[in-house]
Amino acid sequence: MEKKPLRITETILRDAHQSQAATRRRIEDMLPACELLDNMGYWSLECWGGATFDVCMRFLNEDPWERLRTLKAHMPKTKLQMLFRGQNILGYKHDADDVVEEFCKKSIENGIEVVRVFDALNDIRNLRKAVESVKKYGGWAEVALSFTVSPVHNDDYFVGVAKELEKMGADSICIKDMANLLLPYHAYELVKKLKDNVSVPIHMHTHNTAGTGDMVNLMAAQAGVDIVDCALSPLANGTSQPATESLVATLQGTDRDTGLDLVKLNEAAAHFRKVADRLKKEGTLDPKVLSVDTKALMYQVPGGMLSNMLGQLKQAGQEDRYYDVLAEVPRVRKDFGYPPLVTPTSQIVGTQAVMNIIGGERYKMVPKESKGLLRGEYGKLPGKVNEEVRRKCIGNDKVITCRPADLLEPELPKYREEAKDIARCEEDVLSYALFPQVARKFMENRNNPKPAEAPAAKPADPNAVRELYVEDLGE
Ligand code: CO
Repeated sequence: MEKKPLRITETILRDAHQSQAATRRRIEDMLPACELLDNMGYWSLECWGGATFDVCMRFLNEDPWERLRTLKAHMPKTKLQMLFRGQNILGYKHDADDVVEEFCKKSIENGIEVVRVFDALNDIRNLRKAVESVKKYGGWAEVALSFTVSPVHNDDYFVGVAKELEKMGADSICIKDMANLLLPYHAYELVKKLKDNVSVPIHMHTHNTAGTGDMVNLMAAQAGVDIVDCALSPLANGTSQPATESLVATLQGTDRDTGLDLVKLNEAAAHFRKVADRLKKEGTLDPKVLSVDTKALMYQVPGGMLSNMLGQLKQAGQEDRYYDVLAEVPRVRKDFGYPPLVTPTSQIVGTQAVMNIIGGERYKMVPKESKGLLRGEYGKLPGKVNEEVRRKCIGNDKVITCRPADLLEPELPKYREEAKDIARCEEDVLSYALFPQVARKFMENRNNPKPAEAPAAKPADPNAVRELYVEDLGE
């Protein structure tokens, strides 16, 4: 085999703390290590997008755009990467094309180079606008296949989608295994098939929830994958990515040697070990997320979704129904045409499963997000929908078959008008477009040195579970 260094994307600044610590790390926790990270030789540094944007404003009293500019100023050499939810951008609803385009433009202007775009349903119509916009403004468009296991999601399906993505202009293709469902030998096969059928680089993203993540990355490396995601050891493993240092050491001296320096990695890790210790002390990082949880293999749900559903049951005072809910998840997923479980479908399916159990009757309580999914408002569902369930949930409502955003008029002028009393720049308008209430509150308080107080605990109320949509972990 010819020598071909495996390239590494470091996720310590985004997915690692989103997966382990509810995305609560602040910019001050990152800056002391930035110079070290920038000199490491990573392919990219994932540091923005996903849940970071919402959490910055909602919980940390931090401007996400300011965070990005600061990170870029401290890491000028390495490509900064973000996670982008297709037509949902960084939120939970579909946005109009003008908002998607402007968001891509401003992300790149403020320091992002690689934009990883995914759609929860792998509906490529929902990816096109983001991919076009990233390329238009000079970014690298990495498009992800949301990996899942179901009767409709076989390798031919994923290879077919990957070919479409390459045609659409993807600069690289990511296998996005947010739930750690991809098993090592399957990873080998899937990477081989993708390498045989598309010519752009293949990037592996997995987690170590079920303890198989290191093996997945190793088998992917053996199969010729170009780039893999890892997190420095202090915030690695469990629901996060496998550890960078372990893979780097494993591949030293082989044809896939990453070229990264273990001594330098160790120096950067020393900083994040202190941060991780503090997060554990504060209770933000519950050591439970660090241990191997094989429930993910049995129930095929992302780790974050499990804790979300448990939280919802606690709110409703029905924690004892946890295993009933776990058994209900695959049934709901089948009824809904096997959507992969990633934001926002993980929250929709999980919440519906919780409601089916605590409501005493299946589909008696149906949140508006479930109805939207069944009406086609998130895109085309991969498999056949249970029509009886659909009728019970949405009656005779029309099911749309077009690209959902085709029904949206341009929205930016409206947002500019609505936010003109608080927005200082176009970036503020975009923050408002994605999270109107959260952004308004943040912008009104941003000169206030005292951070907002944590909301009080709510009483047990089955309807309260809907508000948990913001606690977003599995992606
Ligand atoms: Co992830």
